[in-house]
Amino acid sequence: MKISVIGTGYVGLIQSVGLSEFGYNVVGIDIDESKIKQLNRGECPLYEEGVEELLNKHVGKNLRFTTSYDEIKDSDVIFLCVGTPQDEEGNADLRFIYSATESIRKKLDGNYKVIVIKSTVPIGTNRKIKEMLKDCNVDVVSNPEFLREGLALNDFLNPDRIVLGFENLNNPRPIEIMKEAYSYFSDKNVPFIITDWESSELIKYAANSFLATKISFINELSKLADVVGGDIKTISRAMGFDERIGNKFLNAGIGYGGSCFPKDVKALIKQFENNNIEPKLIRATDEVNEEQIYWFLNKIKKYYNNLNGKTFAILGLAFKPNTDDLRESRGIKLIELLLEEGAIVKCFDYVEKARENTINRYKFDKSKAFYGYNLYLFEDIYKTVENVDGIIITTEYSNLNEEDWNKIGNLVRNKVVFDGRNILDKNKIKNLGFKYFGVGRN
Ligand code: UDX
Repeated sequence: MKISVIGTGYVGLIQSVGLSEFGYNVVGIDIDESKIKQLNRGECPLYEEGVEELLNKHVGKNLRFTTSYDEIKDSDVIFLCVGTPQDEEGNADLRFIYSATESIRKKLDGNYKVIVIKSTVPIGTNRKIKEMLKDCNVDVVSNPEFLREGLALNDFLNPDRIVLGFENLNNPRPIEIMKEAYSYFSDKNVPFIITDWESSELIKYAANSFLATKISFINELSKLADVVGGDIKTISRAMGFDERIGNKFLNAGIGYGGSCFPKDVKALIKQFENNNIEPKLIRATDEVNEEQIYWFLNKIKKYYNNLNGKTFAILGLAFKPNTDDLRESRGIKLIELLLEEGAIVKCFDYVEKARENTINRYKFDKSKAFYGYNLYLFEDIYKTVENVDGIIITTEYSNLNEEDWNKIGNLVRNKVVFDGRNILDKNKIKNLGFKYFGVGRN
């Protein structure tokens, strides 16, 4: 089977290397020439465990990259993996999807092909794409991805389920082709959900928004615990023993970030609104998330009265551990809020590429590590905490517990920790003489 994958971003790249690992001939297509060159040299443009190894294993053999849509002519299956960012009103911006579809259409030569939409798209998009290709000999299939950053390759190779949405469930041809494309999973007990386009499209939004809602639920509850007492970590742990609830995605913190949850929740809200239905619960999920960081900031402000001139160590720049991705990162948001208050911020992340991305974002002068205001970046956690008035944890790095907190206590000006991810062993920290403020957990 010959496959082409349009888009070499996060989803497209994992799809390309994953399918080449299954033994298919894969060609990745992207309009970004320098990225294509980089990929053909075996260099991975993103930080994701295992991807560069697989890229090097297959590139130049059964995997190659090009900017030319001509290559789709030889493909049996074409995966569309272009971005669907958020537009100014919160809708999913489908410009890239439609322009890629148009580029495909121009190259189709009458031979039958299956076009698979992997991008997260609003309900009705697969139907529109089919409409654009109505004179072509193609079937359009919806096949949403469920890849977590940092674990994307693992999620690709060990999926919880494979969702496939078709125009007509009585037409066996595209169904058989998709089953063949994913035949690697057929003896691995992976459930295949074979359904219609709309269900498939909605499954993706439903899954992400539900997980986001779990987070916002526990975050809302944490505010009450902040005021009336109780430890939200113990509360969510106890809740999680009920199998109907489960213990995942119930960690209170300063809110969810990343390239998926914020955007997908907002896009789902828009889809309700566009259909004149009030999305009460999902809107609340979004609002709770937007407000969570201000609740946390107020806690810091209340402690110091005035943040002007105070120095803080921000531990965590990426939106979650083991990624370099700063998109919608709560740590970055908090840095900016602290700078607005006149604070001096010393920041750190364990992931080198996350630090590099921060340097690029703020156009740091590398030698001085200084941004026009009062932002400094460090490669060493102990240098970061030197002489600070408070430590603020913004990414849930469990290795923070392995740091020498005795040493940290001797380096800081003021022994206070604001644990925005409830990651520290609170008793240990308190026993070392630190004042500890968690989220719903003091
Ligand atoms: C998510 C989904 O998990 C994945 O299935 C989907 O396809 C893409 O979006 P990802 O964006 O990589 O994946 O991150 P995820 O691990 O889900 O975390 C998202 C955010 O939620 C992070 O900022 C994280 O810190 C936060 N989070 C997660 C919490 O605040 N509490 C939790 O209990 C879990």
